[in-house]
Amino acid sequence: MEVLPLPELVKLASEVLETAPGEAFQYAPIGRHLGNPHLRAEIARFHGAEPDRIFVGNGSLQVLDLLAGHLLGGGGPSPVYVEAPTYDRAWRIFERHGGRVVGVPLEGDGVDVEALRALVSEQVPAFFYTIPDFQNPSGVCLSGEKRRALVALAEEFGFVIVEDTPYRRLRFHGADLPLLASLGGDRVVTIGSLSKILSPGLRVGYAIGTKALAISLAELAEDTYLTASPLSQAVAAKSFEHGLVDSTIRSVNTFLEPRHDAAVAAVAQVFGDDLLAVPGGGYFLGVLADCAVAEDEFMASARDAGVLLARGSAFYPGARPTPGRLFMRLPFQALTEDEFVAGVRRLAEVLQ
Ligand SMILES: Cc1ncc(COP(=O)(O)O)c(C=O)c1O
Repeated sequence: MEVLPLPELVKLASEVLETAPGEAFQYAPIGRHLGNPHLRAEIARFHGAEPDRIFVGNGSLQVLDLLAGHLLGGGGPSPVYVEAPTYDRAWRIFERHGGRVVGVPLEGDGVDVEALRALVSEQVPAFFYTIPDFQNPSGVCLSGEKRRALVALAEEFGFVIVEDTPYRRLRFHGADLPLLASLGGDRVVTIGSLSKILSPGLRVGYAIGTKALAISLAELAEDTYLTASPLSQAVAAKSFEHGLVDSTIRSVNTFLEPRHDAAVAAVAQVFGDDLLAVPGGGYFLGVLADCAVAEDEFMASARDAGVLLARGSAFYPGARPTPGRLFMRLPFQALTEDEFVAGVRRLAEVLQ
């Protein structure tokens, strides 16, 4: 990320090292430790949640792994329902913990809630996993109406929703939609991350759920890696305190907005209605296009044309996209406007 606030992070890290080296270089306290209290207070303020409902770990993916272990532990194989497509690392984690992962079709305004209802009516899942804001890999945002319908469904059938929100603050256009947790009380666990809004290398991610859940995650974490890095958490706490998270969000959004706008214009022109959604934020655009050849062949031709793509089908657990259709994740955050536009034109040529 070109907009990492390096000088400011160096300054705050030095402050931590100068003022509290003993804390930074020791284990954090052992025994149901939820994370640096100062950091949890800052995250609580950031989210409008109580600090004792917050568990902080080493990056949000690790927290998701602990959460999956907690929610899937104990019983036999349980279904986990996810959006299709969804973040590939997440569904693989769920499978590793014994989850039977089933994809539910994703539409331009979020998951197909009626299809989810049909699945849930057959078997209630251990949890439903969603990335409601600027989804990885499609860029889709869950509409306000569907957020309410999802939470009502979870209430009706008694299952947990896990909402993963690393891109939520990267909004360039439009107004925020409510966190599912703000609509769903105890049934929703929110996963958050500082990777996209401060620094990915700090590896700071967190879960917000019930107090009991936070303690269970802390116990699992202690059995897995004793404690998360006190140095990272102290730097993250200071960054919140000094307004560095807010200012980084502003600079990331200012940096990414023109990339997003140019990417949307180029993809809409070349792929028309095959663009799944105009995200208004985040890192990704998703395209579901007709393709006469097999995915491997398409990827090889794209590579020959100088475009490296993630394998689209890897984002679909179990059910693949409709035969003859090809899903492409187009990340616009790491390319200049010109590079992105040139890449999209080459992809369109490959597809023809
Ligand atoms: C949806 C989603 N969840 C989690 C992660 C991992 O984030 P972290 O760096 O906090 O582990 C990513 C990273 O790309 C992501 O896209």
